[in-house]
Amino acid sequence: MIRAHLTVDPHFAVGPIDRRLFGSFVEHLGRAVYEGIYDPRHPTADEQGFRRDVMDLVREMGVTTVRYPGGNFVSGYRWEDGIGPVADRPRRLDLAWHSTETNEIGLDEFAAWAKKVDCELMYAVNLGTRGVLEALDVLEYANIRSGTHWSDMRVANGHADPHGIRMWCLGNEMDGPWQLGHSTAQAYAELAAKTARAMRQLDPDVELVACGSSSAHMPTFGEWERVVLEETYDLVDFISCHAYYEPKGEDYATYLASAVDMDRFIEAVIATADHVKAVKGTDKTINISFDEWNVWYQTRYVEEEKVTSIDQWPVAPHLLEHSYTVMDAVVLGNLLISLIRHADRVTAASIAQLVNTIAPIMTEPDGPAWRQTTFYPFALTARLAKGTALELKLDSPAYDTADFGEVSLVDAVATHDEAGGATIFAVNRSLTDEVELEIDAAGLGALGTPSATSIFDDDPHAANSAADPDRVRPRPNDSVVVDGGTLRVTLPACSWTVLTVDGER
Ligand code: AHR
Repeated sequence: MIRAHLTVDPHFAVGPIDRRLFGSFVEHLGRAVYEGIYDPRHPTADEQGFRRDVMDLVREMGVTTVRYPGGNFVSGYRWEDGIGPVADRPRRLDLAWHSTETNEIGLDEFAAWAKKVDCELMYAVNLGTRGVLEALDVLEYANIRSGTHWSDMRVANGHADPHGIRMWCLGNEMDGPWQLGHSTAQAYAELAAKTARAMRQLDPDVELVACGSSSAHMPTFGEWERVVLEETYDLVDFISCHAYYEPKGEDYATYLASAVDMDRFIEAVIATADHVKAVKGTDKTINISFDEWNVWYQTRYVEEEKVTSIDQWPVAPHLLEHSYTVMDAVVLGNLLISLIRHADRVTAASIAQLVNTIAPIMTEPDGPAWRQTTFYPFALTARLAKGTALELKLDSPAYDTADFGEVSLVDAVATHDEAGGATIFAVNRSLTDEVELEIDAAGLGALGTPSATSIFDDDPHAANSAADPDRVRPRPNDSVVVDGGTLRVTLPACSWTVLTVDGER
């Protein structure tokens, strides 16, 4: 039996876990909005056309914030197309996803939906093809009570109370050549600084996110963050990170270690932000909003799905609707471990996305909504990662990967909550062997009755589907034993596990 050893001690705190770490993202893309969260013809639709079954799953998933309306979409978006009487709203070309945007859903409707699912709305302004004035207009519409052009327009549209949006993204992925209005770091930094200054003049309470790199593998990565933060440091609160992972061919060893890439990405951005902090001689610290992360079979989109014909601009096409496997759920659970491990600096994050596109929740237009494998590690982590993230001492055998060299076979993180005990999240990246994880938990005091849940399967490629939505579900892991101050749990091959001590499961 392969063995790994972990020491958990509540004295070694990384930092409090911000609930915004369990945020998500809904873009006007494919069937995320139309046929996803919104489908007035569906039997479960409420009076506003929102699917109740989807809302139930969003709540079950424990999502805390929702980023909207894009994504690449936002860089061609005119926000005011989506307000006022629906019949008067224009149909527009969406160049980002080669679709037609009907504008049936806009800011007011989405804010209402976010409220129904108890999520904080995080709004992205268009800095690709628009600028300071349009950002001010939408902020005025959203956050000023009344008595001005845009705020009175919101009231006239039936929303007497302001939406009170706190978190605003200053554009999206402006480092990416695919982005409408893609610019150099310096040009973006100056626009972001001007926009941030103006938005703060209107509403000093906003929290602003400057665009970081769209991936740690962009040629401009690192330098982009430095330039952007040198211009915006005093004006913004966050720098964003985006990362998506997929297996390259059958190199599952590297794929299962994707969190190593996320760890390095986060640590490089922290180093860059702190470099700018040192140069500026300021006490202010910039944190990370990891506002797009997930497993995404992106090469399939580029090779199989991408439509560019001038005659085809479909409404809500099936786009980026991948089926996620057990292995994908293990990788996703490991990405959450990476985010929690950096809880002192990653204080907001958004799984991208939520419904139908790159999504943990899928919908059938005339049938039910169902959970992908990836739904489960997110939902369990959002529910059980409470209080403070802990620094661990982990001794694990290593294995070799093509992209990252030798990496740890087991990865883990723990959280501690004075009231609820401790929770340990662990993955076993071996495709073939189970691992016995021995946990020195003496520092936690009396251990009570621990319980564990794992995601694994004889077939790591097993997935859920509309026809078989419960093929993969988390299963109780009955291997846990307590021996004085030590816990032992068996981690099945290619698995994700959550173990609670004196907590709920
Ligand atoms: O989430 C899908 C796309 O990925 C987003 O629109 C974009 O920001 C990123 O490249």
